Amino acid sequence: MRRLSEKILQIPASATIEITDKARRMKAEGKDVISLSIGEPDFDTPAHITEACIEALKCGKTHYEASQGLFELREAISDKLKRENSITADPSEIVVACGAKNNISEAMEACLNPGDEVLILDPSWVSYEPAVLMAGGKPIHNSLNQKDFQADDTILEKVSKNTKMLVFNTPSNPTGAVLNRDSVTLLKDICEDNDIIALSDEIYEKLIYDKEHISIASMGDMHERTITINGFSKAYAMTGWRLGYAHAPLEITKAMTKVQQHTISHPASFAMWGGVAALKGDQTCVENMRQEFDRRRRYLTGALSDMGYKTAPADGAFYAFVKVDGDDMEICNEWLEKALVAATPGTAFNASGWIRISYAAGMDTLKEAVRRIDKIK
Ligand SMILES: Cc1ncc(COP(=O)(O)O)c(C=O)c1O
Repeated sequence: MRRLSEKILQIPASATIEITDKARRMKAEGKDVISLSIGEPDFDTPAHITEACIEALKCGKTHYEASQGLFELREAISDKLKRENSITADPSEIVVACGAKNNISEAMEACLNPGDEVLILDPSWVSYEPAVLMAGGKPIHNSLNQKDFQADDTILEKVSKNTKMLVFNTPSNPTGAVLNRDSVTLLKDICEDNDIIALSDEIYEKLIYDKEHISIASMGDMHERTITINGFSKAYAMTGWRLGYAHAPLEITKAMTKVQQHTISHPASFAMWGGVAALKGDQTCVENMRQEFDRRRRYLTGALSDMGYKTAPADGAFYAFVKVDGDDMEICNEWLEKALVAATPGTAFNASGWIRISYAAGMDTLKEAVRRIDKIK
């Protein structure tokens, strides 16, 4: 008898694993590998957030909380969504989970039946497709327009009577592109006309440069059919805290809470108090990190352009998405072997012919990486 489930066997190994493992081995051998394949801010969590968590621990906030998440945190999230995203969100319509990734899986578990199709807009973050498969759904892919990574009518060609959900991410990992108002309006129309749930992953919302972030849930009747995903990892440099949240219509958050009750229960109580401090505290720390990312972004995209590379519009997140001539896996391998620079092949995101470079690294490191890539060109 096969020990593993069909569900898990159908999930392909990540295209990033080969490169990541190789980079790790090379580092272990003492090679000076620069890792620009990371998806996390290189800053420490701001001190006032850490202190709030320590204080919570000292005060004995170490017990079970409501499985939907600490009420004070859901209240703070509700205020934030109203203030910043024009989304009216009752705390009962919010679920706090162990990272946005956890929220995404819960949303799929809550909504999908076998055979339900989930339309994913590519280039797409690596975990959407596995989340769909693990929840028993069927992933269907459609690429955004590769000129500017905006949405267009080709998406409609992939909509069928079985399409249950549309998944997209703005600002985008891996492209750094930000969906403009026309794109979000088109997605809204597609969802409304075809009775589709939108899953809008807005985790990079705070890392945006001279562009406007639009939450689809604030448009038309989308409040009734949108699962908005967000979290603390990227905006507040809290990746290891494992704290994310979702807002959705009550019917869906109740179902997501059911999933949570029987799996994680809820995120660590004291981490959630850190989340309260993050949302209610001074936001200067977020702006300072954003400005530093912006400085690096300008440097990196400029340097890549000087080397003759075309990049996707780097308007958000902390990635430069670079068009390459040839096989992106092979080129990444070559960069790693010859230049000792680790980047992520676009194939991992369903976008062959592109490479993702993270600029969540210090300026000196970025300059050295550019020098090395230029040298082997
Ligand atoms: C687009 C996107 N969504 C969600 C996540 C998950 O974030 P979290 O750390 O909150 O689970 C990531 C993390 O890399 C991401 O890039």
